[in-house]
Amino acid sequence: MAKATEVNDGLELGKPYFCTECNRSHVKGKIYKDHISFATFGNKKDEELKDENITSDEDFEDEAELIEAFSELSEEQDELEDDFELIGEDDSEEIDTGKAAVKKLPGVGEATLNKLIKAGFSSLESIAFTPPKVIMDESGLGEKTTSKLVKASMDKLNLGFKSAEDVWEHRKNIARITTSSQELDDVLGGGAETGSLLEFFGEFRTGKTQICHQLCVNVQLPKEKGGLGGRALYIDTEGTFRPERIIHMAEALDLDHKKVLKNIIFGRAYNSDHQIVLIKEAANLIKEKNIKLIIVDSLIGHFRSEYIGRGTLANRQQTINAHMHDLLRLTDIHTELAIVVTNQVQSKPDTFYGNPLKAAGGNIVAHGSTIRVFLRKGKGEQRVAKVVDAPHLPEAEAIFCITENGITD
Ligand code: GTP
Ligand code: MG
Repeated sequence: MAKATEVNDGLELGKPYFCTECNRSHVKGKIYKDHISFATFGNKKDEELKDENITSDEDFEDEAELIEAFSELSEEQDELEDDFELIGEDDSEEIDTGKAAVKKLPGVGEATLNKLIKAGFSSLESIAFTPPKVIMDESGLGEKTTSKLVKASMDKLNLGFKSAEDVWEHRKNIARITTSSQELDDVLGGGAETGSLLEFFGEFRTGKTQICHQLCVNVQLPKEKGGLGGRALYIDTEGTFRPERIIHMAEALDLDHKKVLKNIIFGRAYNSDHQIVLIKEAANLIKEKNIKLIIVDSLIGHFRSEYIGRGTLANRQQTINAHMHDLLRLTDIHTELAIVVTNQVQSKPDTFYGNPLKAAGGNIVAHGSTIRVFLRKGKGEQRVAKVVDAPHLPEAEAIFCITENGITD
């Protein structure tokens, strides 16, 4: 494929010419999907060209409104930022693939950038890993613009095949959050791992919510103490988040409970739509707020109570599927992020052999979760955790306890 600059040589901006590469008429200076990776325009500055020659089908009428909304959002985020102080601040250096890189994509002017950011697409990864249809629906951008952006982001990130050795290099960088129980950590391969979706399912009072609370405290610890030096984002769908439990757990670890509480960003989801929106909004906070753990407690409670009757089943499963993909995509985009969800169980009375309790949500949730752990009650404070589905871990059981101080062996 020839470079756009070469094909255009000798013509004035805005003049038509015939492109022999794709046998179509082009206009000099416009960016075309087929030539996007070569869309550089010699002596004109990128910024000038973007403003003059965007071949998108979006309209810019509400630009002022968007800019205003965006600046309000940034102010709110700045205020929020002032309130936080981290215990184990992460100082790892990363190549920038964030907002600045998105701004440099071909065809991205101020209005497009604002639309992308408002919809949660503030990094090259978030654009490259999201289906174009989802980007279009959520940002309001047109089909052409979206496919151009996705392709350009993929090119910039060099996405494609890689060797198993590269995959191994990547897996060696996986970090884990301790659960505070050595036994439970052991069966999980070291704790809740980054890049995965870990699901705890079990009957009521089996410790699902307690484990979530403990992980929110532990993620803040420095790496050498079993944390990731980051913040937690807690999405509570059942109204069972208890700051007093966080205080107990923080004090048991000799941490300043005020700081620990500040480092947990809390969102109460009142219905399934709200839960979906909260996760979409979370996408924008992860990098800025150094979030290393997302909790959804519980994943499908709202869906189960809202979609009632056989006729709604297909619709419900589709919505849960999209929601799980939103979550999984976050782990692809943010490699230092762990996601932990809880799930209820349903009884299968026709089971004659094995466990009659099955995780709710059917195959959709089963396929979405990377690691599934079944919890059941033991004697007194004891609980039993069984890893039932994991790509790299054997089926194994661990016994842990729930005490006033949190999770222990
Ligand atoms: P559902 O959300 O109802 O499905 O249950 P769950 O699995 O989330 O249960 P959760 O994690 O809330 O566990 C509740 C259990 O934790 C209680 O029954 C107690 O046994 C235990 N627990 C909670 N707080 C304390 C505490 O302060 N001290 C002690 N010793 N145990 C506690
Ligand atoms: Mg619970």
